[in-house]
Amino acid sequence: MTYRSGRHFLQLPGPTNVPERILRAMSRPTIDHRGPEFQELAQKLLIDSQWLFGTEHPVLVHPSSASGAWEAAIANTLSPGDRVLVFDQGFFAAKWAQVAERFGLEVQLEAWEPRRGLAADAMVDVLRDDVDRRIKAVLVVHNETSTGVTTDIEVLAVALRESEHPALLFVDAVSSLGATPVEHDAWGIDVTVSGSQKGLMLPPGLSFLAVGPRALEARKTATLPRSYWDWDDQLNANAEGAFPYTPATNLLFGLAEAIAMLREEGLPEVFARHRRFAMATRTAVAAWGLDTFATDPLEASSAVTAVLVPPGSDADALRAVILDCYDMSLGSGLGPFKGKLFRIGHLGHLNALTLMGTLAGIEMGLALAGVPHTPGGVDAAMGYLTTEGAA
Ligand SMILES: Cc1ncc(COP(=O)(O)O)c(C=O)c1O
Repeated sequence: MTYRSGRHFLQLPGPTNVPERILRAMSRPTIDHRGPEFQELAQKLLIDSQWLFGTEHPVLVHPSSASGAWEAAIANTLSPGDRVLVFDQGFFAAKWAQVAERFGLEVQLEAWEPRRGLAADAMVDVLRDDVDRRIKAVLVVHNETSTGVTTDIEVLAVALRESEHPALLFVDAVSSLGATPVEHDAWGIDVTVSGSQKGLMLPPGLSFLAVGPRALEARKTATLPRSYWDWDDQLNANAEGAFPYTPATNLLFGLAEAIAMLREEGLPEVFARHRRFAMATRTAVAAWGLDTFATDPLEASSAVTAVLVPPGSDADALRAVILDCYDMSLGSGLGPFKGKLFRIGHLGHLNALTLMGTLAGIEMGLALAGVPHTPGGVDAAMGYLTTEGAA
């Protein structure tokens, strides 16, 4: 392998670049997870995590990837044979549906145009037809990382309540938390799930669930088997600043540092930064004469931009050239979009120059890989970042 100088550009939509402050915080010696120092750390972290999700209700933190939180949401609130409603938003919505199916739930999978955010009307139409109230939960992905399309969860939650259908609302905020507003309580979500390796700037390994009162109530009668994910065990231990198993102590040191960083910058500023960088990215893509997968700019993700390559070009070949020549990792097209699109992660720990380096690497890669495009995307993005998009 040839030596590569400088830092690798990890411009995936997760895992994202881990800041040195967080790496240093995690390199502290591990402490006794039953001792007083840990207890103080855990109690503070659990309260700080409520701030992240905009909730006064419990937030649970597990040592797992975010898929574990998908499973925990289902296992704690539902019973065998229950029906859940999922729309075909993309790769991650489909994977969540698969978890439900493996738990023996009946999945009502409805078709959806994945280039658009899920419309509340479409959900309400399905719920209206469910006269026997068989649907117990609606599973929605806030920011579908595979497509770069964001759904307006607030509008969806209002529509769900107004429909008077009793289904719980489960929201996957895995790639939206820390990049775009997530308001668990104000929007009336029942369970919001997330992970550490995206907007929170941590390595993979922690999952989160914000759990509202209706979900906690559902837990009392739900009969799916659960052990590791059991909310009662977790909540009882958490009340004492402990975990019902050995926690991921060093990742929790990192989480404390990540929260400190987000507090220093301020969440509104963090979200505005993500919006600016997403806009700069879309400005570059438009100048290249390429299409983003998201068709409505209002639904285009602040965290990730999925870019379609022209017919006859291979997005994976382009990514390989960019990795080889510029030491930069970009996201691949997932599922049916393999080879048809690439994904630019612009979330977490990055500044205008990181973004410009990313866009420059892509523009040079487009040229080297022979992907038809118009040069000038980098200039266009710089133009945006020094005018309307200036910080
Ligand atoms: C929207 C979304 N949901 C869920 C997941 C699954 O997370 P994990 O791979 O951490 O289990 C991902 C991973 O990228 C994601 O982007």
